[in-house]
Amino acid sequence: MSTAILSALAEEQQGLVELLEQRQSITHAGREFHQGLLCGQPVVLALARIGKVAAATTATALIERFGVQRILFIGVAGGLGPDVQVGDVVIASHFVQHDMDASPLFPRYEVPLYGRSEFAADENLNATLLIAAKHALALACGIFDSFLGERATARVCQVHQGLVISGDRFVATSVESRALQQALPHALAVEMEGAAVAQVCHDYGIPFAAVRTISDRADDAAHVDFPRFVSAVASVYARAVVQGFLRFQTLGI
Ligand code: ADE
Repeated sequence: MSTAILSALAEEQQGLVELLEQRQSITHAGREFHQGLLCGQPVVLALARIGKVAAATTATALIERFGVQRILFIGVAGGLGPDVQVGDVVIASHFVQHDMDASPLFPRYEVPLYGRSEFAADENLNATLLIAAKHALALACGIFDSFLGERATARVCQVHQGLVISGDRFVATSVESRALQQALPHALAVEMEGAAVAQVCHDYGIPFAAVRTISDRADDAAHVDFPRFVSAVASVYARAVVQGFLRFQTLGI
């Protein structure tokens, strides 16, 4: 069973590409796909790119051209819930497109002709992902502490599970972040791809799961926090989570 591992950014993918055995790289639809073995399992690594349309195209190519049987997304997100802080990990239980609005023809957030606004992640993948994320946080917490330097606190990074919202906007003001929290109070994190990939996987009947490390609080400091976090921490987290996920799957956990 071939697993697609999608990353949003090259920094997040780099560590995984380095680990790939029997690597074969193929260009398709203007994207590079890396096939090979990771932890002994067949995988295809790809960059989702940024935004819903680009991510949907990549997901469709993975299914149609590469025949993957499940998709795992690993990336970063802005924290929305009050307890969801930089360095935490969010595993998506459901996804909503926060910028979907065909009202008054359809209810706000509902995807027209689907009769729903939420798309669920696969529960079996999530169960393994939860164990892998907790394990990875324990392994990688030193990286995060050195990233924080003198800003380090006694707070221990946490793994959350819940609603993740996606839209074609980098949320970078406290005003917009508060507005999203008021409109979708259960949302834990905001990013730009997950709900689109979830919709494609729903259409094809392919299991999908996503894990997001919180790089910023989607507030006025997001544009500073995001790039610092991505280059220093995200790739280490991504590698630890994916390796844990594949190993625990092999063990049937
Ligand atoms: N990904 C990481 N941080 C984000 C933010 N603040 N808004 C949208 N996507 C993000």
